[in-house]
Order: sequence, then C-alpha cells, then structure tokens
Amino acid sequence: MVYDRGMLEEKTVLVTGSAGFIGSHLCERLLKEYPGIRIVGIDDLNDYYDVSLKEYRNEKLLKYPNYTFLKGDIADKKFLEEIFSEYRFDLAVNLAAQAGVRYSLENPDVYVSTNLLGFFNLLEMIRNHPVEHFLYASSSSVYGGNTKVPFSTEDKTDHPVSLYAATKKADELMAYTYTHLFGMKTTGLRFFTVYGPAGRPDMAYFSFTQKLLKGDKIRIFNYGNCKRDFTYIDDIVEGIVRIMEKGPKEDYNLYNIGNSHPEDLMEFVDTLADSLKRYELLPKDFDVKEHMELVGMQAGDVPVTYADTFALEKDYGFHPDTPLKDGLDRFSRWYKEYYG
Ligand SMILES: NC(=O)c1ccc[n+]([C@@H]2O[C@H](COP(=O)([O-])OP(=O)(O)OC[C@H]3O[C@@H](n4cnc5c(N)ncnc54)[C@H](O)[C@@H]3O)[C@@H](O)[C@H]2O)c1
Repeated sequence: MVYDRGMLEEKTVLVTGSAGFIGSHLCERLLKEYPGIRIVGIDDLNDYYDVSLKEYRNEKLLKYPNYTFLKGDIADKKFLEEIFSEYRFDLAVNLAAQAGVRYSLENPDVYVSTNLLGFFNLLEMIRNHPVEHFLYASSSSVYGGNTKVPFSTEDKTDHPVSLYAATKKADELMAYTYTHLFGMKTTGLRFFTVYGPAGRPDMAYFSFTQKLLKGDKIRIFNYGNCKRDFTYIDDIVEGIVRIMEKGPKEDYNLYNIGNSHPEDLMEFVDTLADSLKRYELLPKDFDVKEHMELVGMQAGDVPVTYADTFALEKDYGFHPDTPLKDGLDRFSRWYKEYYG
C-alpha cells in the first residue's frame, strides 16, 4: 500500500498525554519524520507513576522547535477552551487517560474525571472547533472476559470487568454519538499491552524488572495461567501514524492494534529474565523461578488478550509483528542506560 508520507507536513496536531509512554513516542516519531508538522502537547504530569520519567520524555520533545508543551488537565474545560481558541488543529489524538486496571479498584474518581469528563470535554472542543480527524486511545480491556479469540472489533463488548474498561467503552460510545450527531470523523484505537523503552513503571514487564533487580519476588497472577498479546511501542506508533496519514476510512472507526501472538505469562517472564541477563542487569546464573510467587487472579484482570488485526491490515496495510525477544532487548538496553 502506498502512502503519501508527506500528508502530515504542515499539519497542526494536538496530542494529549504527550509526556506519557505512547504519547511521547508518537510525538517524537512525528517530529522526526515531518519537519513541517506542528505539535501541541498537553499533559498534567500527574504522579500516578514516577514524574521524572514523564519529564525525561517531555524534555526530549522540547528540543524540537515545532513542539509546544502545555501543562494542564483535560478535565479542566477552561484550560482546553483557551487552547482551542488559540490554535487551529487539523488533527487531535487523545492519549491522556488514567490507565491501569488494578489502580481503578482503589481510585475510581480519577478515572471518571480524566477518562469520562476529560474525554467529553475534548469531544465538545472538537464539536465547536472541528478537526479533520479525532483519534483516541481505547483499550483491549473493553473485551472483558470474552472467551472467543482472537478479539475482533465486531465482537460484543458489553461486559467490561473493571471501571477502567468501562470508561474506555464509554469513550467509544460517546465518540459514536458525537460522530453521528456532529459530522465528526473519529477513530478509536484498542491497544493491547504496550511495552518498550521509557515505558510505564506500573506495567508488569517494568515492575518485574525493578523487583528482580532488587532481589524481590514477583507476583504471578492466576498462577501463571494468563496470556497477553504484548505489543511493542514502535508497532503501536506505526499503526497510529498510518491511520493519521491515510485518514479515516469511515466517519466512525475502531481498530485493534495488537501483536496477534499472545504469550504465556510464564514464557514471557523467562524471555524477560533472559533479556535482563543479556544486558548484564541480572547475573547469568539468576534463577527467575526462585523469585516467583504464584497467586490467584486479581479482580478486574482477564485471563487472555489476543488481537484480531485483520481490519487494520486491510485498511492500512499493517499489523504489529515485533518479536517479544527483540522488544524486551530494546527495553533492557534502555533500562540499563536510563537507570545506569
Ligand atoms: N500502555 C498500554 O499498554 C495501553 C494499553 C491499552 C490502552 N492504553 C491507553 O493508551 C493511552 C496512553 O497510555 P500510556 O501507556 O501512554 O499511559 P501513560 O500513563 O504513560 O500516559 C498517559 C499520560 O496522560 C497524562 N494524563 C493523565 N490524566 C491526564 C489529565 N486529566 N489531563 C492531562 N493529562 C493527563 C499522564 O500524566 C500521562 O503522561 C491511554 O489512554 C491508555 O489508557 C495503553
């Protein structure tokens, strides 16, 4: 499939969650690839996880003269109104969210504030200041405990098993209504367990690394009987960029972006440990099995995630395919450089 790689030159793009894991990688790729692009990044730099990691990502972006950073909360309508009256955006990508399934059990309010009210505010802004295309992060968690695999965007997603998942599903529904009512073009992106350099410390591969390096035990949920479709960050970014470049297929769109190759949790831990050994973060004779504690399923978690990426491939000629070993090696290399 041939793309007009210049499509995004001269565009003004809003990226929310720009200091986040996916947002910062997306901005960096766009700024590198399209010298004429203008990006306005929004992030509230909250302390859900280590703020210095968000600052590190943001500082890399601030080196580009065509990147503007505005610190603020998308739940704050006034803040957004000022931005939308100052800039005329061609595209908007919403990656700001309160992420994490487990955290939503203890801290539900912030999910409602950011993922529902913040998302609604963005829809309202775009209703009043139209953009060519509004893309937003949804999540594989909307599939809940579905047992039919792989998960297809055609499948029912009426049974989210965490508040996080429910807010993502609600975002898709609100986007549908606004698309229908106000002639917007929207694309929801259901990401599947994203990992990579400068990733999120609250996610298993990162927190396992921190714990193993300290000699602590790691907790393996559902006694290891979990499968996850781990998706390397560059594949996620490639998917988003292609959709931005080519534009929306219909008015309302939904895509899975996942690796379509679910990994057994135990094998994943072995692959991670091998990678950490290769980068001399763990000693060669380290026995990861001795550092595992097998525990039951966590409330809100699902046993399997597995993406059907047929639609993404058909419409945008792409599906994620970075092997786990390669992706984890890139993570380990970054981890060694960053933490020394
Ligand atoms: N990483 C994954 O595996 C994964 C999987 C599925 C879906 N997603 C979704 O992708 C998006 C990006 O995820 P990520 O992994 O980069 O997470 P992240 O937490 O690293 O990034 C989100 C960013 O948004 C910012 N933010 C949060 N609330 C905000 C608010 N109210 N106003 C302004 N900024 C706010 C945070 O400070 C953070 O920098 C999120 O919507 C997430 O739900 C991620």
